[in-house]
Amino acid sequence: MPNYQSDLFSALSDSKEQIYPDVYRLSRFTKTDKLHKSLGPILQHSPFRKMMTPNGHYTNIAFTNCGEYGWVSNKVRYQYLDKDPLNNQPWPPMPQIFKDLAANAALEAGYSHFMPDSCLINQYLIGSKLGSHQDKNEKDFNHPIVSVSIGLTAIFQIYGKTRSGIKAQFPLYDGDVMVWGDSARLMYHGVKSLTAAPLKPNLTQRVNLTFRKSH
Ligand code: SIN
Ligand code: FE2
Repeated sequence: MPNYQSDLFSALSDSKEQIYPDVYRLSRFTKTDKLHKSLGPILQHSPFRKMMTPNGHYTNIAFTNCGEYGWVSNKVRYQYLDKDPLNNQPWPPMPQIFKDLAANAALEAGYSHFMPDSCLINQYLIGSKLGSHQDKNEKDFNHPIVSVSIGLTAIFQIYGKTRSGIKAQFPLYDGDVMVWGDSARLMYHGVKSLTAAPLKPNLTQRVNLTFRKSH
């Protein structure tokens, strides 16, 4: 039986699954209502925006960041910046509940003392997808990646060591957290085109938080 408790990090179902070598899915690891509330002021300061990429196209999904550094793309490169290029001000600070969640999830997957300095916030509307890519703009690949799903269900795709050829795909539900590192740290991964949930017409998007130690 799921154990419904009121504090933020109590696991609702308490399941940790190794989905692929060094890739864990923590099912229903967190409630998302407080995370969602924390997003309000962040988005007011640094709204979602699509970004130009070095391949000359705008991204399919929209992004923003909080924390000391934010991941951004332009027509020349991908990089971490300590200021939001939209307003030339520091990114909004990372809320303590984000830091605690990232550290707790990393610990659950075997990584102690994970202290992210960056939280990339992705917005997927229905029909949005994220193509196969590696997360490789960080300075030290010894730190894991922690990724938190909020809202509509996504299908996460693991391509592994090569850009193409799906090795695993599985749903990520609201409150699921993925942690990957070590041999999977540079795995290619992506997210399939988001579909609507007919029984939940008010849910129109998915937001994903990606916690990284960039510097
Ligand atoms: C990412 O790889 O940047 C995000 C993954 C996700 O949305 O689950
Ligand atoms: Fe990624």
